[in-house]
Amino acid sequence: MEDIDLNNLPKHIAVIMDGNGRWAKSKGAMRIFGHHHGIAAVRETVEACAEMGVGFLTLYTFSTENWGRPKAEVDGIMSLLVKTIGDEVPTLHKNNVRLKCIGDLNMLPNKAKNEMLEGIEKTKNNTGLVLSLALSYSGKWDIVQAIKQIAAKVKSDELKIEDINEQMFNGFLSTFPDPDVDFLIRTGGDHRISNYLLWQSAYAELLFLDDVFWPDFRKKHLIEAVKTYQQRERRFGKTGEQIKTIK
Ligand code: IPE
Ligand code: IPE
Ligand code: MG
Repeated sequence: MEDIDLNNLPKHIAVIMDGNGRWAKSKGAMRIFGHHHGIAAVRETVEACAEMGVGFLTLYTFSTENWGRPKAEVDGIMSLLVKTIGDEVPTLHKNNVRLKCIGDLNMLPNKAKNEMLEGIEKTKNNTGLVLSLALSYSGKWDIVQAIKQIAAKVKSDELKIEDINEQMFNGFLSTFPDPDVDFLIRTGGDHRISNYLLWQSAYAELLFLDDVFWPDFRKKHLIEAVKTYQQRERRFGKTGEQIKTIK
């Protein structure tokens, strides 16, 4: 961790925690076994972010599209969620982590939804790492729910069409007021976004880890990933020369 430049940390890291099923399969086990073992990786990632001083960590936990998986797997993931939130919230709270949730919480079974809401309530005044779980989340869902809110305000004359701009649109996204994603990491070997934080990742640095399934992801992987991030030159449309002058 000493090699990390604490002045150049990504403010917001987003992770697509992929590969649980294949990890389990490689061990001759059921897919749900992989999801269980993913929890240790979540714990290490949260700890490492908190230790480094990363402000925001958003974990892709269950996508809108994941509802289409076999019922047994969906039920298994939902039970695991209830248990894990119950088990982990006291530690998160002790470590000053604020838990949040993005996604269509109403789609979740009541038990999972209530457990989540309790965790959010309990940790709401914490001032450390903001840990957002993307649950029943998709980037397109997020954009559409923002548009619906804006359209309702235009209809009731609270808002004029001329006032719609990127900054105000951002204010209706589920992630608001968190900053945009600086660094998006995906484990499991696939090179795609899978409908994650589409708007918020517009200028994110992307890192696809080909050799790590999520259950094997550890602090050392995150530290290596952050070092890779720190070697990137983020230009935001400008030229490399311009960036160097600003620095
Ligand atoms: C990610 O692992 C966890 C969820 C999508 C809930 P997968 O379950 O997608 O595992 P693979 O990609 O099939 O190996
Ligand atoms: C993305 O993984 C969703 C989560 C990690 C929760 P998927 O496994 O669902 O993505 P695809 O289907 O391979 O694109
Ligand atoms: Mg997958």
